[in-house]
Amino acid sequence: MSTRPTPAAAAASALMLALALGTARAASPDVPAFTPPAADAIPSGPFGEAVRRGQDIFLNPQKFAKQYVGNSMACVSCHLDAGRRAGSAPLWAAYVLYPAYRSKNGHVNTLAERLQGCFIYSMNGRMPPADSKTIVALESYMYWMAKGAPTGVKLAGQGFPELAEPQQTPDYVRGQKVYTEHCALCHDAQGKGRQDATEHTVFPALWGDDSYNWGAGMHSIKTAAAFIHANMPLSQGGTLSEQEAWDVAYFVDAHERPQDPHFAGNLAATTKAHHGGKYDLYGQTVNGVTLGAHSKPSTSTLPDKAEQQVGN
Ligand code: HEC
Ligand code: HEC
Repeated sequence: MSTRPTPAAAAASALMLALALGTARAASPDVPAFTPPAADAIPSGPFGEAVRRGQDIFLNPQKFAKQYVGNSMACVSCHLDAGRRAGSAPLWAAYVLYPAYRSKNGHVNTLAERLQGCFIYSMNGRMPPADSKTIVALESYMYWMAKGAPTGVKLAGQGFPELAEPQQTPDYVRGQKVYTEHCALCHDAQGKGRQDATEHTVFPALWGDDSYNWGAGMHSIKTAAAFIHANMPLSQGGTLSEQEAWDVAYFVDAHERPQDPHFAGNLAATTKAHHGGKYDLYGQTVNGVTLGAHSKPSTSTLPDKAEQQVGN
């Protein structure tokens, strides 16, 4: 006689397992759950004003931090729900993790420096000084959102939920198919996204001159696949298979975008020094295009090495 469970029993036990894991996760002292304060609970007074200003910058940096922005994206383009959404690198979970060592630049980063990094790479822009009103406002917004959270721990929902290695090598043609079926409607067939009549971004650009540059975290296929699987298509996160997410991330990141700010005229040298990883297409030829060879120059300015805690 077969000892195989019926499909219903199998589904039930899978559900039990998921629930058990969910409980274990929430109860684990390593990954506590956290809920940020309600969006309308921002206090009045000067501190509340700074928090509101931070929220404004986060939602619309073109208007509130124009001098530091070099594309049409907003912070909320990648950190959904005004930076509140678990699984899209929420601000409350980030706040409690800094200062932190980052291998990307090889030293301990303050929160201000982490924020500056998003301006330089994701926003393809310039670095606001650490004591600028812009950074102070963003830090205030984050601090307020993390009210009551324990510090120095990875909260449930931090970052993007990492995916397992893909079963098949990510593929341009399969990715293109996913893109056409599930993404092009909003992000445009040419990846340009869409802006309204006032040039406010409705759907952010996925590649091209107006998107994140080659130094941004999202140019890693692994990071993009994780973000996409958890969050896209918008409001239908988790509906693509993991393989579809890998394939469409490969397709998106196999297109030209603004140059890596580290680039000093030699593609091979920049590739060697800052790229070349398994998930990184910069400097590689995909679908007949050598990526990084025809990028629009970046408008970013890199932080002065002398300011990066060298020798002081
Ligand atoms: C193109 C997408 C994109 C845009 C636009 C963007 N970010 Fe990010 N941001 C990322 C990615 C990717 C990470 C790394 C997430 C990870 O490590 O899992 C990140 C990380 C962060 C972190 C650290 C998160 C953590 O948990 O350590 C902060 C804080 C942050 N971004 C703030 C901002 C702010 C402020 C802006 C706007 C000025 C911005 N980001 C714009 C993609 C973006
Ligand atoms: C219904 C419209 C819609 C669909 C369909 C959609 N997106 Fe998005 N996507 C958005 C919006 C809107 C944002 C920015 C979130 C915000 O501003 O609140 C976004 C953000 C993104 C981002 C981060 C910002 C950027 O420009 O890099 C990526 C990557 C992304 N989408 C990829 C995809 C992929 C891949 C698909 C298809 C699997 C897809 N999206 C389908 C609306 C959509």
